[in-house]
Amino acid sequence: MQSFTFYNTTKIVFGKGQISELSNLISKDQKIMMIAGGGSINKNGVYDQVMSALEGYKVIEFWGLQPNPEYEKCMEAVQLAKEEKVDFLLSVGGGSVLDATKFIAAALHYEGDDPWAFLDSGEEIKSMMPVGCILTLPATGSESNGNAVISRSERNQKLAFSNPKAMPVFSILDPETTLTLDDRQTANGIVDAFIHVMEQYMTYDVNTPLQDRQAEAILKTLIEQAPKVKANPNDYNTRANIMWCATQALNTLIGSGVVQDWSTHMIGHELTVLHGLDHAQTLAIVLPALLKHQRKQKGGKLVQFGRRVWDIQDTGEDSVIQKAIEKMAGFFEEAGNPTQLSAYDIKVDDCLIAAKRLFEREGKIGERGDIGQAEIEAILRLAE
Ligand code: NZQ
Ligand code: ZN
Repeated sequence: MQSFTFYNTTKIVFGKGQISELSNLISKDQKIMMIAGGGSINKNGVYDQVMSALEGYKVIEFWGLQPNPEYEKCMEAVQLAKEEKVDFLLSVGGGSVLDATKFIAAALHYEGDDPWAFLDSGEEIKSMMPVGCILTLPATGSESNGNAVISRSERNQKLAFSNPKAMPVFSILDPETTLTLDDRQTANGIVDAFIHVMEQYMTYDVNTPLQDRQAEAILKTLIEQAPKVKANPNDYNTRANIMWCATQALNTLIGSGVVQDWSTHMIGHELTVLHGLDHAQTLAIVLPALLKHQRKQKGGKLVQFGRRVWDIQDTGEDSVIQKAIEKMAGFFEEAGNPTQLSAYDIKVDDCLIAAKRLFEREGKIGERGDIGQAEIEAILRLAE
């Protein structure tokens, strides 16, 4: 096992009606800026619940953060928060609103010229305004980690930062708020969470049986719950199970002490920049192709994945690997996310620039540092 520090400071408040706990989580002397997206929280009553829980508080509102939140919009929020002298940021919505809120919180305490430096030159975040979260879309794990992904379209960039200071102080997870998710966002959430687990699991063995089995438990639970939510989207317990899986998938626990490979996310982010696909739509396209390409390097774990997660009992390892990748791709398709670029009418030749851009920025990626420009191109061709 590799050495690690596990440090997760987010208080999770989970269950029906828990938004009413807000008054026990934020002190009354703090001026709050509530940050939201395009309006889903109005339609499902979450906004009303938040406002009623915050009765008697000083609250201002900032709306309009987009999916794949934009730097420019975040900077408008920074401006308003400065003018209004707020002390606390409350994110209400999905991962995009929360990532934006984390960036805004870091920007508010930044003394340099442009806080984009946290993303493109890896400048360290020294201090942040505290962030609280009410999550309405289980997917990213952002509710319990220090990551944020921000886009800057004018520069064709979608970049991430990661810092334990960016963990929300608390996250309220009420599965009832997720009952209004449509099929597309529900599928996106399941696929994103599944692939977060895969990127912390599907590398090579460093003798971490506990982390492996925890990862496999999340994968198996998602495989079990996905058809249930499709058949009965209004079932509270199914939504609750998916929500808890998504948090566990990326709260850094299963990633402790293991070798990770975030290539699928890196390639996926480039596809979102180039073609505007949803985050999880890109991942469902890239991962099956990446595993086909890396089947030798990842062979041991692929066999384990096939046997333990998909119960494939064939004796030949090649056959287990092939079936495991097919079953995983079938699972994504069944959930609602196609696994080929052609499903979105995207030509592979229009994606190859992603390989060049990523290689020039990050060098060779993958757990063995053996995925360079030519390999990314080959992976994209396998996803044609
Ligand atoms: O904007 P509103 O109106 O709120 O609508 C949103 C949005 O249109 C809607 N929605 C959210 N909750 C809903 C709802 N609709 C109905 N009922 C509800 N309860 O769903 C749409 C998508 O929301 P978004 O927040 O964009 O989705 P998600 O949570 O999947 O976040 C995706 C973003 O997170 C980043 C991605 O790159 C992408 O930018 N990621 C962040 C990570 C992290 N911080 O750790 C890791 C991930 O790998 C990912 O990269
Ligand atoms: Zn993701």
